Amino acid sequence: MSFITDNDADLKLPPSLASLVKFCGFILLVYFIVASYLLLRGERKTLLEDLSESTLRDLVRSIGTKVTFRARRVPAVSELLDFDPHMFSVIPRHFLPDVKNLCWYEELRGNVSADPYGSNLFGRLSSNMRIAFERLSATFRQRLILHDGKLQRLRCLPYFYIVGQSKCGTTDLYERLRLHPDVHLTPPKEPHWWCRKRFGINRPGDPPLTRFPLDHYLDLFDPVAQRIQHRLLGNSSSRSSIITGEATATTMWDNLAWSYLHDISREAEPPSLSQDFIHAVQPDARLIAILRDPVERLYSDYLYFGTSNESPLDFHQKVCESLRLFDACLRDAGLRACVYSSTLYYAMSVRLQVGLYVMFILDWLSVFSRDQLLVLRLEDHAANVTHSMNRVFHFLQLGPVSKQTERLIRRRPVANTRDPSDRKLGPMKPVTRELLRQFYAPFNQKLSAVLQDESFMW
Ligand SMILES: *[C@@H]1O[C@H](CO)[C@@H](O)[C@H](O)[C@H]1NC(C)=O
Ligand SMILES: *[C@@H]1O[C@H](CO)[C@@H](O)[C@H](O)[C@H]1NC(C)=O
Ligand SMILES: *[C@@H]1O[C@H](CO)[C@@H](O)[C@H](O)[C@H]1NC(C)=O
Repeated sequence: MSFITDNDADLKLPPSLASLVKFCGFILLVYFIVASYLLLRGERKTLLEDLSESTLRDLVRSIGTKVTFRARRVPAVSELLDFDPHMFSVIPRHFLPDVKNLCWYEELRGNVSADPYGSNLFGRLSSNMRIAFERLSATFRQRLILHDGKLQRLRCLPYFYIVGQSKCGTTDLYERLRLHPDVHLTPPKEPHWWCRKRFGINRPGDPPLTRFPLDHYLDLFDPVAQRIQHRLLGNSSSRSSIITGEATATTMWDNLAWSYLHDISREAEPPSLSQDFIHAVQPDARLIAILRDPVERLYSDYLYFGTSNESPLDFHQKVCESLRLFDACLRDAGLRACVYSSTLYYAMSVRLQVGLYVMFILDWLSVFSRDQLLVLRLEDHAANVTHSMNRVFHFLQLGPVSKQTERLIRRRPVANTRDPSDRKLGPMKPVTRELLRQFYAPFNQKLSAVLQDESFMW
């Protein structure tokens, strides 16, 4: 049978050439089959290799070689002012001297008869806040004072911020702190104003919406202002010792919003961080961070924000995938750029970077002094809550508490513990733990050097 059939007659190839074409076709076919087989096998091989412990160790080692701690560029106050002139026009340079908390009298602007809290955006988010604002509205006019012929209201900012870290015990700290008679905390625990709401971001990943004005944030502290004013106008000659604070657990690390606001490349570092603004308006702010073993933090974070198919194996795979992405980012960009990168944040399925505590601590210490920052460990807090709360009270210059209050603080049940259904899942795989331990080691080492405390090595 000839290779050239009647249908192909118009090709009109001579018989010898026809067999050559036939032969070449056959060779080509064999080549494709072999090549695709090799390719498939190769792919399967890399998949297997990716899960092998030695490759993973190499990956973590490769990340380790790129860990260098460089000082950041701190923006000038004029740059911050350009970015948010309103903030700087509302908050004065000096605060009331007889009040321990940061408070000042602000001239009442706008329509005096309108509901001062009617447009508050926090009120639109939660019914609890709406109720609180209705209560405040009812007494608003009584709280105004006439000074220099102008109606004025007392405004306050937090005296302290619990700035982090997510899944490290911030809620427990906050709930015990409020048992001190001089601490007046108002809901919500986490306003997320400095890191998100002032940019119009409600949840990470959502596009920016209406920006929450500073005035709406200040409204949250009006119940404290009310108490402080009561004390001020009373006959007591003593300084008002009431303080307030907030505990947004993401203030320390979350600067994802900047990527929406600045048109810069993926490789760049944020031009300003939340702490630059906090420092510019309240240079004496007191900051508390509570940290825990970053390996445990990550697993707790995974269980808290996790999906339905949670398992130690699923966690392991997500850790491996995220380590790979982190390493890939470090190939094109600096460590700080990767740590704050929103692209990497949304790509990684576990939040590895939240546990790189020293990166954030160093950046907070680029504007605040060391004695303004108290760093606790959840492990110590859990082992002796009386001791850790005493450290907090001392740091906030709060007086000692009565025996009864101390008992109350000690016996308060632990807030925000692990869900019982998560506990059934058991611990992470030893191989995952080991990888994460190696990944976090250089950062923990630096942290303990910066804080001069070896217990931060974990
Ligand atoms: C001020 O607010 C009150 C109550 O909401 C309203 O009745 C009044 O029209 C407002 N006045 C102006 C000038 O907007
Ligand atoms: C403040 O002092 C005045 C006069 O000394 C007294 O009549 C009043 O009851 C006092 N108010 C309070 C709240 O102690
Ligand atoms: C806990 O700390 C308190 C205050 O520092 C101390 O008196 C107490 O002995 C400590 N308790 C334990 C069990 O170490």
